[in-house]
Parts: sequence; C-alpha cells; structure tokens
Amino acid sequence: MGFGRSECERCRRDFPALGREVNGHPLAYLDGPAGTQVPQQVIEAVAHYYRTCNANTHGAFMTSRESDEVIHRAREAVAAFLGAPSWREVSFGANMTTLNFSLSQALVREMRPGDEIVITELDHEANRGPWLALRERGIEVREIALRHDGTLDYGDMRRKITDRTKLVAIGYASNALGTVNDVPLARKLSREVGAWLLVDAVHYAPHFSLDVTTLDADFLLCSAYKFYGPHVGILYTRPGLLAKLRTDKLRTQDDEAPFRIETGTLNHAAIAGVSAAIDYVASWGQGETLRARLVSAMEGIARHEHAIASFFWENVRRLPGVMAWGQGFSSPHRAPTVSITIAGVSPSEAARALGEKGILVWDGDFYAARAIEVLGLAQGGGVLRTGISMYNTQEEIELLLKGVVALTER
Ligand SMILES: Cc1ncc(COP(=O)(O)O)c(C=O)c1O
Repeated sequence: MGFGRSECERCRRDFPALGREVNGHPLAYLDGPAGTQVPQQVIEAVAHYYRTCNANTHGAFMTSRESDEVIHRAREAVAAFLGAPSWREVSFGANMTTLNFSLSQALVREMRPGDEIVITELDHEANRGPWLALRERGIEVREIALRHDGTLDYGDMRRKITDRTKLVAIGYASNALGTVNDVPLARKLSREVGAWLLVDAVHYAPHFSLDVTTLDADFLLCSAYKFYGPHVGILYTRPGLLAKLRTDKLRTQDDEAPFRIETGTLNHAAIAGVSAAIDYVASWGQGETLRARLVSAMEGIARHEHAIASFFWENVRRLPGVMAWGQGFSSPHRAPTVSITIAGVSPSEAARALGEKGILVWDGDFYAARAIEVLGLAQGGGVLRTGISMYNTQEEIELLLKGVVALTER
C-alpha cells in the first residue's frame, strides 16, 4: 500500500477540523508548517488520558503508574520515529524553543569565552535566538550565509566551521522556503573539528522519515504538533551525552537521561497524544515493527506531498506577477512548502483574501526572520506560504491557484 489519492481521501475523514466551512467554502488547511490538524485518534488518546488516569507520575497508586506507562510508551514511540537506539535518548518539553533554550544553558557551561557556535541565516529564530543570546557570555556566533536561491552557501559553511567551533546548529528543512539542508556535510565538517551537531528537524519531521543514528547527530529537536500530534517539544540526545551535561534542574528532578533536562511537570495528556500521532502515521505504512511502518508510511506521504507541492510550484510560478521563492522540485528531497510573492498585493492582504474563501495560508516570516531579511522581503511583509500535509489534495491546490490568479488580476 502506498499513499496516493485514495489514501489521502480516506485520511481526510480522520481529521474532524477539515470538515469545517468558511463563508460556505470548504476549508483548505494549507498551514501545516505552523501546526497540522489532528486526527480523531489523537483527540481520543488525549481525552482518554483525562477520562481515565489524570495523575502525577511516580506515585504508589494505579493511575500514577498508568501515567508513567503512558509517558514511557511515548518515549519508545518517539525513539522509533527518530530511529534512536532507545527511549533513554528522548526528552520532552513544552515546545522545541524552550528545549533549545534549556540546552543552550547547559552547553554554554561546557564552553569558554572565545569559543564559537555556527548557526545559519536560513534557520527559524528558535535555532538562532538561544545561540545568539550566548554572545553575552563571550561566545562568538557565526552565521552561514543564505544564497538568493534559498540554499545555504556551503563554501561559507566550510570557512565558518573551524577549530574554535564547539557547536554547529542547523535546520534540516526550512519552514519558510522548504529547502533541505546538507546536514551530512555539516556533520562531516563539525566532526572534523570535534564540534557538536544540533539539528532542528521541526519542519523536516512531518515530511520525511528521520534517522538520528545515520545522521550521527548529537542533538535533534522536533515538535509533535507539526506531525499531527499535540503541542509537545521533543529532544533527542546522543546516548550518554545528556548525562554529562549540567542542565538547569531542581535537585528533586531525576538526574538520569532523558529526564535531567525536563523541568517541572510534563503535559501528560498531550504526551499520550504524541504516541497516538506516531501510531496514526505508522498506520499508513507496512512492516513488522513500528519503525518499519513509520519509514514506509513516510515514504508514501512524502511522495504524495511532493507531487501536490510540485504541481503548485510549476503552475504558480508561471502566473504573471508571481515570484516563487526557493528551490524547484526536481529533487525529491525538498520539503512541500512553497512561498510566493505577488506583485502589487502584500502577503497579508493575499492571506486575508484567500482566508475569506476558506483557503488557509499564512503570510510573513514565520519566525525565519533572518532569511526573509536576507532575501530583501521583510519590508514588503515577507511571503505567502503554502504548506502541504498528508491530507491536502490536488483540488485544494487548484482552488488556491484560482485564488492567486484572482489576486494577480486585481
Ligand atoms: C523550523 C522550525 N524550528 C523551530 C520551530 C519552533 O518550534 P516550537 O513552536 O515547538 O518552539 C518552528 C515552529 O514553527 C519551526 O518551523
């Protein structure tokens, strides 16, 4: 079983919010990069947790033990999703940004003034801000340049990663332009100088299967609400590494990995939903193990999303007055996220007009603020972004194209 038109149609029935209408128009939800819709299975898992065992962890009674089990099961499911050796490498937090800030506080304790961190101009601020803030502590932060075509300048990457580099923090896929970065090259260069590699996989995780072991990442972060789950941040840390880091933690918090970066009480019900989201994705794949089903499902979903996004790209960029930013779709390793500008129509005006017709797309910089500045688009209000998820159809894109044509004719 692949994931084609009929699977897409079938999966749509699982997402109650897709059945809504806006001004009598069916709702086309094309803002997955800001958070996907959630299937009934996830909603039910969250509700089930509250209905049956809402309790704190590590207690001596039944519902507390069940809560421990729910969280443990979620760590195992995430480990399968990431290709991690075990649940011990999986920490949870409020969201990716909060986990990355916590991590930055731990990593700076292993650095000295004058040490360097390399980030990119393409990344979401969540993978720039926590590192830029360390300038106050005497850390040099160097930025790999973004080129006009939406790709990173790899010559610049080679120049900026040096013997002084302690950490390379790079996004896997851009939430603004859909570019997939050469993370294996970043690994090779960071390994040569003994630096850690941190990967922001928030935008990559909904579209391609991840394999932290092959990537050889030291840290990888993602966020379940981008892949059909609730708002929960996820941090993978290389086996044995988190235990050595001096994280900000209460003395009452478990000292071991993966717990030592988790502050306070987690969102147990949402974490129950994370397992359900992973099971949901896996249900579209085949294989003996959860991992095998996830990899197979993600292959099918990636092919479907790529076909739809590529159809949009090929058609929208031909429209007079439309500029499509970023890379084309000749490579399958391109996230299904397309950003455009329309001459004479601001992105916010365009998003509002399309929104009135039930076509939900977002405008602005999506917190990839530096990239939008570098491309010279900040003054004009950024770009209009279309994000494709597993439940989006060719018909929705045809409606979107019609809407864009109407805007170009105003
Ligand atoms: C690429 C990327 N990185 C990081 C983040 C931040 O994730 P969170 O909202 O979980 O903090 C986002 C959110 O949009 C994102 O798209």
